[in-house]
Amino acid sequence: MSYANLLITDADGVRTITINRPDQLNALNRATIDELDRALNEADTDRGVRVLIITGSGPKAFVAGADIKEFAHFSVAEGQALSADGHRKLFDHVERLNKPVIAAVNGFALGGGLELAMSCHVRVASDNAKLGLPEVGLGVIPGYGGTQRLARLVGKGKAMEMIFTAGMIKADEALQWGLVNHVVPQDQLLAKCNELAAAIVKNSPTALGAAIRAVNAGYEPGANGLQREIEEFGGCFGTADFKEGTSAFMEKRKANFTGA
Ligand code: COA
Repeated sequence: MSYANLLITDADGVRTITINRPDQLNALNRATIDELDRALNEADTDRGVRVLIITGSGPKAFVAGADIKEFAHFSVAEGQALSADGHRKLFDHVERLNKPVIAAVNGFALGGGLELAMSCHVRVASDNAKLGLPEVGLGVIPGYGGTQRLARLVGKGKAMEMIFTAGMIKADEALQWGLVNHVVPQDQLLAKCNELAAAIVKNSPTALGAAIRAVNAGYEPGANGLQREIEEFGGCFGTADFKEGTSAFMEKRKANFTGA
């Protein structure tokens, strides 16, 4: 499939999706969100893809937010539709993908950019990264999950402060807050993400999907995370991956998982 706003590369079970609008600091316009939706569906159904890395093109920005120029004249109904559409096509889509997604935050992650990073399962930032939710400075609030996911990651107090001040924090502070998992020099960012991906790729795809669903359930209002864990744990016993993993252990060999 071809994309106007994305670059896609594959290596050793790892698909890297690069948002490629560097002259607009990779801002998320509707066309890019639609393409990301398609790219996620494509990665989900491709058995050769076991882990995804999402990053931004150029040295300056991961994603500098939703495309302000595109929504500046929207009505109330259009604003609501923009948010709902984005949740469904991109932000919830990433979070609920059955394959681990790593955000390689290579610069500014602002507004929708930070919201995209927070929807990913793991975040690695380069040391030049700056993260923030500047929306209230534009007269709007974070509308792609920021009010919920930031509070889950860093706690309600820090989330309120970050949203109220519309300020940016540097990568090392984001690490201290628990907003990112690792900070590395910019020229080592993709290597670090690929190192993490390589550690994930050797594990069972069916178990990884089950783990994502179980962890996510703990953050879904009305869902019972521990009950979901019981169901997902039990479900693993019916997979070929489980038979392979346990047989390999007993036969003292490396497991060769197929994701079945
Ligand atoms: N939406 C649309 N265009 C954006 C954008 C966004 N969120 N962020 C950056 N751009 C565009 C700029 O308009 C500019 O385009 P132009 O050359 O056609 O005018 C280009 O990207 C480069 O950005 P510029 O502002 O010149 O770079 P800078 O280094 O001076 O500043 C930022 C970088 C990130 C501080 C600044 O671009 C910014 O504040 N962006 C908006 C961040 C934001 O509020 N995001 C939340 C949106 S809800």
